[in-house]
Amino acid sequence: MKDASPSAPAPQTIYLKDYTPFGWTVEDVHLTFRLAPHATRVIARIHFAPNPAAPQQDFFLHGEELTLIRAAVNGEAVSPELVPGGLKCTVPFAPFLWEAEVEIDPANNTALEGLYMSSGMYCTQCEAEGFRKITYYPDRPDVMSVFTVRVESEMPVMLSNGNPGASGDSFAEWHDPWPKPAYLFALVAGDLRNHPDSFTTKSGAKVDLNIWVRPGDEGKCAFGMEALKASMKWDEDVYGREYDLDVFNIVAVDDFNMGAMENKGLNIFNSSCVLASPETSTDDNFERIEAIIAHEYFHNWTGNRITCRDWFQLCLKEGLTVYRDSQFTADMRGAAVKRINDVRDLRARQFPEDQGPLSHPVRPESFQEINNFYTATVYEKGAEVIGMLKRLVGDEAYAKALDLYFDRHDGDAATIEDWLKVFEDTTGRDLTQFKRWYSQSGTPRLSVSEDWKDGTFTLTFEQHTPPTPGQDEKLPQVLPIAVGLLSPNGDEVQATTVLEMTEARQAFSFDGLSARPRASVLRAFSAPVVLHQALSREDRAFLLAHDTDPFNRWEAGNELARDCLLAMIAEGATPDTLWLDGLETLLRDTALDPDFRACMLGLPGQSELAQQLHERGHTPDPDAIYDALQTLQQFRAERWSDLLPKLAAEARVDAPYAPNAEQTGKRALGTAVLHLLSRTDGGAAAQAQFDGADNMTLQLASLACLIRAGKAEPAVQAFYEQWQNDRLVMDKWFGLQVSMAEPGRAVTVAEALTAHVKFDWKNPNRFRAVFGALIGNHAGFHRADGSGYALLADWLIRLDDKNPQTTARMCSAFQTWTRYDDGRRAQAKTAMERIMAKPNLSRDVNEMVSRILAG
Ligand code: BES
Ligand code: ZN
Repeated sequence: MKDASPSAPAPQTIYLKDYTPFGWTVEDVHLTFRLAPHATRVIARIHFAPNPAAPQQDFFLHGEELTLIRAAVNGEAVSPELVPGGLKCTVPFAPFLWEAEVEIDPANNTALEGLYMSSGMYCTQCEAEGFRKITYYPDRPDVMSVFTVRVESEMPVMLSNGNPGASGDSFAEWHDPWPKPAYLFALVAGDLRNHPDSFTTKSGAKVDLNIWVRPGDEGKCAFGMEALKASMKWDEDVYGREYDLDVFNIVAVDDFNMGAMENKGLNIFNSSCVLASPETSTDDNFERIEAIIAHEYFHNWTGNRITCRDWFQLCLKEGLTVYRDSQFTADMRGAAVKRINDVRDLRARQFPEDQGPLSHPVRPESFQEINNFYTATVYEKGAEVIGMLKRLVGDEAYAKALDLYFDRHDGDAATIEDWLKVFEDTTGRDLTQFKRWYSQSGTPRLSVSEDWKDGTFTLTFEQHTPPTPGQDEKLPQVLPIAVGLLSPNGDEVQATTVLEMTEARQAFSFDGLSARPRASVLRAFSAPVVLHQALSREDRAFLLAHDTDPFNRWEAGNELARDCLLAMIAEGATPDTLWLDGLETLLRDTALDPDFRACMLGLPGQSELAQQLHERGHTPDPDAIYDALQTLQQFRAERWSDLLPKLAAEARVDAPYAPNAEQTGKRALGTAVLHLLSRTDGGAAAQAQFDGADNMTLQLASLACLIRAGKAEPAVQAFYEQWQNDRLVMDKWFGLQVSMAEPGRAVTVAEALTAHVKFDWKNPNRFRAVFGALIGNHAGFHRADGSGYALLADWLIRLDDKNPQTTARMCSAFQTWTRYDDGRRAQAKTAMERIMAKPNLSRDVNEMVSRILAG
């Protein structure tokens, strides 16, 4: 028998409320892989037993793009019925052995899901539903089993999950003793080099660590290895979690849809998220690599040992693990700047999602394609929800609840209900209302007013969440509102305290005060809301000068910057010198960390300003937003001509390059200053930095300034010649030219780059380098003539046949389309309708674009 599966199933909506357990348990799984680029054979031997906890059902296994060679039940050949998305088979109502041999074509797998080839090596990506492209299986996270794997090929290195077993000339065996869902399966085979090390756990077990890379990349592993060891130590110290296998392998691959994947004992990384060297990686790259290595490692407990019952529970592992990796980065590099960056990111990515057509709860209730729900909401808002929970119960109770969670649910496929229950059982709290954070979509608006009478200061809060698609009525959320009070001379008269708001409107009083205090509200951004506080510019300048909470100090400056820019855009106002003078005082304060001062120099992004204008009833004009930012930067450069060289001198690093917090902070300040200096010196300082740079942070920053200053050539050419054989640096070269292009040229530059010999559009990193940069060039992408939308649509249509997952993710560029004027809306609509009209449009893209158009 040799049968190709019918095509993928037609789009179908899956509902959380329909959850039913699988009718069988999987006792064990034995897989043999005979690797060949176009004809890999996968032989599966699986023991099933009836699941007493499940209702009776037909025996159905998922399977897609598989050619079934043979199948047997208890050793007898069977002819299963091939149905869309899998197969059905008659099986005994008793334990039985299932055997199946299938053939797959990894070399033609451009979707990068299942088993595929990247730069001559075999690798896999199974989350969320890719294992069904490897063999027939109940491909759902609540079916967990122990896997034994044999890989046969001529490749020198063959890896799978768990611990190594027997190996020989052309085979290697692996056994993973920890039951796991299929999405954590992984296999890698190739001509790889390793960077070895080891770690001894606190109970004394020695773990072999390896980072596996292509020949030539061995020199880019050291930083990742240090980050891995630091993560292992941190998880022991802070969460009491130890590693549980003899080996931990990390592999770098060039073609990868995401950043990295937490497969048990065999993490697979996009090479951009693990390979690093001072010459080729920026400080931001180093920080991201450290965070992502930590993130995937932390999943070993929050995701692998305790996994998700179904994909609606995705935030159970992702929100928690993002929260854990943010705690790790805060400990490694400083909490204040980490919080500021996370909030900037939340506002730039999650707020537009939650306030637009793609809005969905942290735990969605339905989906068509689960890959479309690895969103900023599930991840970032999911992490915020955990931060709120910790704030509400306190650090000690949080630690106890986590211990109980690990204890009670180790080995389980768990739910959000299980997660909240451990907090209820630990603290005696009723979390019924808090649970709304998981089911109610949209960003709450919180307003606050003040009252002062007879030594009593009262803050009255009101909350309200605007309707979102499918949710017209919203209920009040539990909001932990961190508040501090300052005396008029800036002393703290009330240290940070957490007010627990549960009603739509609620007042909180502070008495026994001798003078009317100044309130610092929502410290450290204690809840993911939009705060409306009617403060004067003077009030904000006071907080900018005196707030003892570093986040709110930054926020005061950020709000002054935003109001200044909105007034410039909407009313043609001149820059606000009250803000700039307050900021200057702070920038001159050498007691403040350079990285904090670098944050203070930042300005709100163009897209965020567009959203602010939209909310205030204006139609945002991307060109006017761009122009205002240019005017403001020019104004600051001229006004601070005396300050900037001083800051530049402070930002100098004389020690050899190291990507540590101290040096990184200085270089961040130096970069912000260089951007300003380049506006008045014709690019001289940037050119000097470019010529003398011995690390990528300084080189790339100066190249960006030169492009902005209109002095791109010959630096762009020199950079190309120097780095043309380094893929990750070439991604920067492609991206920077588009992101720094003047709005009127961005589309032309992007289009020209798509014709470059090194534009390998099937490589997600390269595709994203160009088109991610175009989308991020706000005024460039939102050209009034629609050329930005049209170019993106052309390429999304092209990529969809090859790689639906990456195509679908990039469709979110259109999610803000209704903010803009009629002309732009019509252009965006035309582009999206063109995508919808593409023959054989993937389920992924179909779902994304229909939601965006409907919203
Ligand atoms: N489990 C995900 C990777 C993943 C996501 C696989 C979607 C398949 C589909 C992984 O743990 C992850 O979250 N990676 C993030 C980076 C992380 C630091 C937030 C990523 O890849 O962007
Ligand atoms: Zn993750």
